[in-house]
Amino acid sequence: MDPRRNPFSPGAGVRPAQLAGRGELIETAEIAMDRVLGGLHATDIIMTGLRGVGKTVLLNHLVTLAKARGMETIKFEVPDARGGHLTPAMVIALGAVLKRLDRLKKAGEGLKLAAAALQNFAAVFRVKYEGFSFGAEPARALADSGDLETDLPELLMPVARAAGARRSAIALFIDEVQYLTREELSALARACHEAAQQGVPFLFIGAGLPQIAALAGEAKSYAERLFLYPAIGALSPQAAREALRAPARQQGADFTEEALERILEETERYPYFLQTWGKFTWDAAGESPITEEDVAAAGPSIIAHLDQNFFRVRFDRCTELEQQYLRAMAELGPGPHRTGDIAAALSTTSTRLAPVRRSLISAGMIYSPRYGETGFTVPLFDGFMKRMLPTLEPYKPKRRTGK
Ligand SMILES: Nc1ncnc2c1ncn2[C@@H]1O[C@H](COP(=O)(O)OP(=O)(O)O)[C@@H](O)[C@H]1O
Ligand SMILES: [Mg+2]
Repeated sequence: MDPRRNPFSPGAGVRPAQLAGRGELIETAEIAMDRVLGGLHATDIIMTGLRGVGKTVLLNHLVTLAKARGMETIKFEVPDARGGHLTPAMVIALGAVLKRLDRLKKAGEGLKLAAAALQNFAAVFRVKYEGFSFGAEPARALADSGDLETDLPELLMPVARAAGARRSAIALFIDEVQYLTREELSALARACHEAAQQGVPFLFIGAGLPQIAALAGEAKSYAERLFLYPAIGALSPQAAREALRAPARQQGADFTEEALERILEETERYPYFLQTWGKFTWDAAGESPITEEDVAAAGPSIIAHLDQNFFRVRFDRCTELEQQYLRAMAELGPGPHRTGDIAAALSTTSTRLAPVRRSLISAGMIYSPRYGETGFTVPLFDGFMKRMLPTLEPYKPKRRTGK
């Protein structure tokens, strides 16, 4: 069928033609936004899920909805676990917010205070900032202690108040929250906590891998109650059908029932895979409707494509030992698995494997759903590992060379 009209789009953060099956969560977030705009309290949200389930596109959609309501939105993605990304991102984004607020209604005491806090914050965290001062007195001791956990709330509260004075509110969106350092996460939780206590119009919506709930809890014990942690996962069968059928029909094409069934089975209804199967079967099929035979025929090239472009990039970044660890997990199935069982599959102990496991977690390859358990962060990764390494070798630690 004509690739020019192919409506499917596998790709990180690429908006799907049909954002299927997320209505309930979108409504929860919209209610939270409207409450905050109405001066009421709303619980902050951290959406959690594996890679490719649609967290980023959902977050982007929520940003659009917040903007449409007149909220002042800040959005950024934490690129990696090295730390230090939060402060510059906040300074740049809040500088822009203050400029917009100033356009809505000139300066005023509240805005001056917020601008002073931002200047202090930028200076103490050594972020280059050439923003407006709005005639602010930079001498006030505000957001300038150098302790992020103190300063981030001291910065955000006056900004949110200034927004509130203009009948707006601040909506902060952060993607890949699990990459924030413990200190950054603590500061963020503290800011959310303060905002709730002081009743300022501020809403935080984050997205990240499933370990984030545990990480947030470790950083600040009250974080467990501070946030809602809706789990984003595979789509329901009905939503998965809609994700395939609606975009096809918009282009005047369709899938047969059997074709849909087959795709649902092979993708396990994970959004990224639904897009991939949709795209490939569309291009391979001779005519509409796309049939089960078309799906079967496209299968091998889809798997080859995914291996090369989706799974392989992650696999190639791992050391040999890390690959062995992943292979042992695959031996046990899709997971999550007990960490002890993984060690047993490699004929060794969890203690010995602890460093490998740690580095795989910080690389975002695996995560710990709860204590003593380990799972892949990417759906269907077990099948890939078995294709890459057909047999499982027992763990052989390298012999230490005498130094
Ligand atoms: N609800 C959905 N319905 C259909 N396709 C979706 C949906 N959510 C995400 N996708 C598709 O899945 C892929 C992965 O989405 P992305 O937001 O990057 O996932 P994540 O951030 O969780 O890794 C994209 O190609 C996107 O178009
Ligand atoms: Mg993402």
